[in-house]
Amino acid sequence: MSHSKILILDFGSQVTQLIARRVREAHVFCEVHPCDVSSDWVREYAKDGNLKGIILSGSHASVYEVDDRAPDAVFELGIPVLGICYGMQTMAEQLGGKVEAGHTREFGYAEVRAHGHTELLKGIEDFATPEGHGMLKVWMSHGDKVTQLPEGFKVMASTPACPIAGMADESRHFYAVQFHPEVTHTVQGQALLNRFVLDICKASPDWIMGNYIEEAVAKIREQVGDEEVILGLSGGVDSSVAAALIHRAIGDKLTCVFVDHGLLRLNEGDMVMDMFVGKLHAKVIRVDASDLFLGKLAGVSEPEAKRKIIGGLFVDVFKEQAAKLKAGDGGHKGATFLAQGTIYPDVIESGGAKSKKAVTIKSHHNVGGLPEQLGLKLLEPLRELFKDEVRELGVALGLPREMVYRHPFPGPGLGVRILGEVKKEYADLLRRADAIFIEELRNFTDESGKTWYDLTSQAFTVFLPVKSVGVMGDGRTYDYVVALRAVQTSDFMTADWAELPYALLKKVSGRIINEVRGINRVTYDVSSKPPATIEWE
Ligand code: XMP
Repeated sequence: MSHSKILILDFGSQVTQLIARRVREAHVFCEVHPCDVSSDWVREYAKDGNLKGIILSGSHASVYEVDDRAPDAVFELGIPVLGICYGMQTMAEQLGGKVEAGHTREFGYAEVRAHGHTELLKGIEDFATPEGHGMLKVWMSHGDKVTQLPEGFKVMASTPACPIAGMADESRHFYAVQFHPEVTHTVQGQALLNRFVLDICKASPDWIMGNYIEEAVAKIREQVGDEEVILGLSGGVDSSVAAALIHRAIGDKLTCVFVDHGLLRLNEGDMVMDMFVGKLHAKVIRVDASDLFLGKLAGVSEPEAKRKIIGGLFVDVFKEQAAKLKAGDGGHKGATFLAQGTIYPDVIESGGAKSKKAVTIKSHHNVGGLPEQLGLKLLEPLRELFKDEVRELGVALGLPREMVYRHPFPGPGLGVRILGEVKKEYADLLRRADAIFIEELRNFTDESGKTWYDLTSQAFTVFLPVKSVGVMGDGRTYDYVVALRAVQTSDFMTADWAELPYALLKKVSGRIINEVRGINRVTYDVSSKPPATIEWE
């Protein structure tokens, strides 16, 4: 099946990914590629006739500092183009207009006046002035600005500080805005991007996860043929959805390896087995490696050292299983593929777009490494999807909502939620306390009926290996302390501590102290990130 597609050329803005997410929210397929692709590459990309439009992103740089320009083909293919911020400036400059360095930076909230009844902004406004001008509430972040329109363009939007805050050449379907429609602070941003991709580019909104299953299944079958696949199942969203999808495609030719490092949450291992083996009838090898992990962690209290041990052992245990499967244990002919739950942000962030521009923020553990070492081919069926799409796909594949919409859980598990040295006794206490906290977060709702689990982005309990004095009945207790942590965040880079209702905190604290013998004090962490981090280690 071929989809309409939108090409997003990345000039290095931190929010380029958001453009892609907004386009996908309009159910249109899109890809982010570096701005320094060649004109030939763009023409080749457009050759199948599916390319309906191009978006030029913003940049952290000024057109004066860098020589990044859009490949000429962008303006020669006869398809609509939308420039955003730097994308607008380079469009203006490349088509014969002028850009000048601004003396003042315009940063943050702005009100933009729409001009000239363009197709892009027609009927889109937040309010009207008494004179009847349509106004937009937007988010701006720029120093330079366009001071002279290229030939054929007219002014589409303005602010007092930026007389050309938007421009359009409607005969060629070229549009540009100085503000950022992709960020949520621009109230009509999604409406503007929908207008561009659906009405101006006429892309068909056919990127729908329910329908994508069939297409993805066909692709997996074609890639795998009659070979066999191994997948490391962690219980997290990405590996679970990848497993369900691949299982749908090739059934028994998929074997999942689930390494239990003894630092999982209460009953987590059983729940994963119940879902994948009990309900989906997938083949899962459960490796109970908790003694091995806890043994190697004994006496180690430094967080990074613990992470290294857990990560290293995990790879060792998984490799051992994979080698057996590759060798064809149990009458199988041997696996040749390793499946991973790599998702599109991993691909973009790890510079998978092969660009100096695709900002390398972190090298993700999913990309590269293991398959080469194991001599296996790589199968990554979620490579084109954003997290929201992976979740939708998971639900469409029949995975339970609670599993698919779970808070993230770090790879080292409870290993970084037990401060200092990890001991089985501590892990057992923590598991029970944490289960109570999560259960009550799911029980309590706000006035709109949403649960506090869904109202928080991540919530968990931390074990503090210190003892404090308490009193229970007639006796004195001298037991451990736990801290509850709950945060709200959109990107996990910054986070606010959640203002949980006192009634919820009271219930959780009462239950933990009464039900978990060994803990006699519960605290709530009221630190935001930065300067604190979300995890305690
Ligand atoms: P911090 O503590 O850095 O956490 O504010 C940000 C997000 O990253 C998760 N996290 C990890 N995930 N391995 C992981 O897979 C790790 O070692 C790790 N450390 C932190 C954390 O849970 C939060 O979602």
